[in-house]
Amino acid sequence: MILTLIAATRNKHKLKEISKLMRGTGIRLRSLDDYPPIPDVVENGRTLEANAIKKAEAVSKAFGQPALSDDSGLFVPALQGKPGVRSARYAGPECNYAANNVKLLKAMKSLSGSKRKAYFATTMALAWPGEKTVIRTGTLSGKIITENRGRNGFGYDPVFVPAGYGKTLAEMTPKQKNQISHRSRALAKVAVYLRNTLEKKRVKG
Ligand code: IMP
Repeated sequence: MILTLIAATRNKHKLKEISKLMRGTGIRLRSLDDYPPIPDVVENGRTLEANAIKKAEAVSKAFGQPALSDDSGLFVPALQGKPGVRSARYAGPECNYAANNVKLLKAMKSLSGSKRKAYFATTMALAWPGEKTVIRTGTLSGKIITENRGRNGFGYDPVFVPAGYGKTLAEMTPKQKNQISHRSRALAKVAVYLRNTLEKKRVKG
């Protein structure tokens, strides 16, 4: 049975990553752009989990269908976990990716060695009408380098080198990034959950 899943996002980069990772699972992925507009969910939770749950439940409730949302962030332990849950707006409410990277490199200017360790985390929430929301998290460990390198990807990709690699995420191909990303790891866990429960559910496609 084909399951229609609404990805609770309009972010094209994310949709592309999610749809690639969902290929072959028998899931028909839709985005918010395929549905009538609903008010934006304000992401003011104190954790990735709180934001992901809020988004997925709002979308699932609005359209009466399963909805998948994700909230991600970059965490630097030496900066007390910053940029963290506020990764998108680290350099201010209207900032862009470049401004966030400038601010991060500046904040880490005096840090070296293990103090440059960081990790990405993605928490995914899968909300089913009338059921308890399912949560899965994926992480990717690495370090923040001292300059931007590479043109692929988005966000903090040009300053993040995954542990065990010599390239930033922005120097990797989208395929290479997808194989190791925090988002793909969270999504792989969601896929396991879906595979295990899909047969049991009578979801209208
Ligand atoms: P979101 O919750 O996926 O929108 O992520 C929030 C912010 O975290 C983004 O605006 C980016 O700044 C950062 N971020 C999340 N995932 C990634 C990634 O895969 N690479 C680089 N930055 C990311």
